[in-house]
Amino acid sequence: MYLKMLQKRRSIRKYQDKEVSGEQIQALLQAALLSPSSRGQRPWQFVLIDQEEVLEELAEAKAGGSSFLAGAEIAIAVAADPEVSDVWVEDCSIAVTHIQMMAEDLGLGSCWIQIRRRQRQNGESSEDYVRKVLALPDRLRVLAVVALGYADEVKEAYELDELNYDKVHYNSYGQEIPN
Ligand SMILES: Cc1cc2nc3c(=O)[nH]c(=O)nc-3n(C[C@H](O)[C@H](O)[C@H](O)COP(=O)(O)O)c2cc1C
Repeated sequence: MYLKMLQKRRSIRKYQDKEVSGEQIQALLQAALLSPSSRGQRPWQFVLIDQEEVLEELAEAKAGGSSFLAGAEIAIAVAADPEVSDVWVEDCSIAVTHIQMMAEDLGLGSCWIQIRRRQRQNGESSEDYVRKVLALPDRLRVLAVVALGYADEVKEAYELDELNYDKVHYNSYGQEIPN
């Protein structure tokens, strides 16, 4: 059931030294390409990374929150052309979510690494750095890099009865849905 998968998905930052198969990679990319987008413009570009040296370089993309990328089996960078869509951030965010849920379905762990609006230790923009490492055209903006691999850490699934139901309103803000 999809809800069970949503409960089980957790951000995984430690990965086994175990190969992600070609079929799995294909499914991850297909999931990304199947994402809905505003006006069907599909402004995105996806870069699959499986070279250890490139993963290690990308691990230095941010001052914090990206170092574990060096231990990932693969990663997918998600970028877009803002000239193609003014809502590329939304479009790319959905694509990242598709990748993460596909990963969950394939028994893989994943973690979103935010690049847009982030900086490196030396103050350089994370986007500029990733653009350089991946030889992306200047016109492309970089939303995120998704780290992927078989999990080497155990994280508890979320319980449905522990969700923040106070974030949900009924017809008018502040009104609870009756039981
Ligand atoms: C927009 C966004 C940006 C995120 N950026 C990072 C990041 O740069 N590094 C990281 O380790 N985790 C990042 N995360 C993962 C969150 O920290 C994680 O989803 C959150 O703590 C909840 O944990 P869970 O994914 O296990 O439910 C990001 C998640 C989102 C949605």
